[in-house]
Amino acid sequence: MTDHAHDHGSVPQSLAEFWDDRYAGDGPIWSGRVNATLADVVTGLQPGRALDLGSGEGGDVIWLAQHGWRATGLDVSTVAVGRAARAAADAGIDPESARFHVQDLSTWHPDETYDLVCASFFHSPVDFPRTDVLRAAAAAVVPGGHLLVISHAAFPPWSDAQAHADHADHRLLSPDEERAELDLDPSEWTTVIAETRQRDATGPDGQQAVLDDGVLLMRRT
Ligand SMILES: C[S@@+](CC[C@H](N)C(=O)[O-])C[C@H]1O[C@@H](n2cnc3c(N)ncnc32)[C@H](O)[C@@H]1O
Repeated sequence: MTDHAHDHGSVPQSLAEFWDDRYAGDGPIWSGRVNATLADVVTGLQPGRALDLGSGEGGDVIWLAQHGWRATGLDVSTVAVGRAARAAADAGIDPESARFHVQDLSTWHPDETYDLVCASFFHSPVDFPRTDVLRAAAAAVVPGGHLLVISHAAFPPWSDAQAHADHADHRLLSPDEERAELDLDPSEWTTVIAETRQRDATGPDGQQAVLDDGVLLMRRT
């Protein structure tokens, strides 16, 4: 994922406005490729129904569909959802295998169940109840299914860390802190992975850095 710099000084009021504005340019803002850690972790799982929270431009959903999953991506940005759907069509994916819907997850109640719920870099400078969303999504995981949360464990050096820090719900959590916040019933959930992984990344102006990603994989028993 490429994290382009943006101006937090002009953050619009609403979450949807913020993210539509963020996606407003001509071209994609992310790489379009699957997040490498998601591909690595999910490759070990039996394909089934998957849900991607904050699916952005669809790279993860498209990869899931290409690897046997029937995947749905939800995102608050109409622009991102349109771009994701076009990318899936351009990749020749069966529309039944990669579906995208506009949804503000702050007010969402799942009405389906999933073998995998994933969230990659589900962060936002505009506050939203992230942990509540993840907990609601966890409730939609079937027994034997998984919840995978991949997150920034530290801000990229090119991001506006202070602006992020000003938003209480946007603080970054280690995988162990994430697991503690989620507070899933230990009689129902087993931790499979809770670790920080490093990866090489390129910033918006070509800067090279090693980034820390938090990886939390929980299995519902
Ligand atoms: C940092 S981007 C990550 C996008 C994608 N998962 C990826 O890894 O490239 C965060 C995404 O979450 C979405 N988002 C943030 N808050 C949301 C909410 N409350 N409901 C739905 N989508 C949300 C944004 O529109 C954005 O696409």
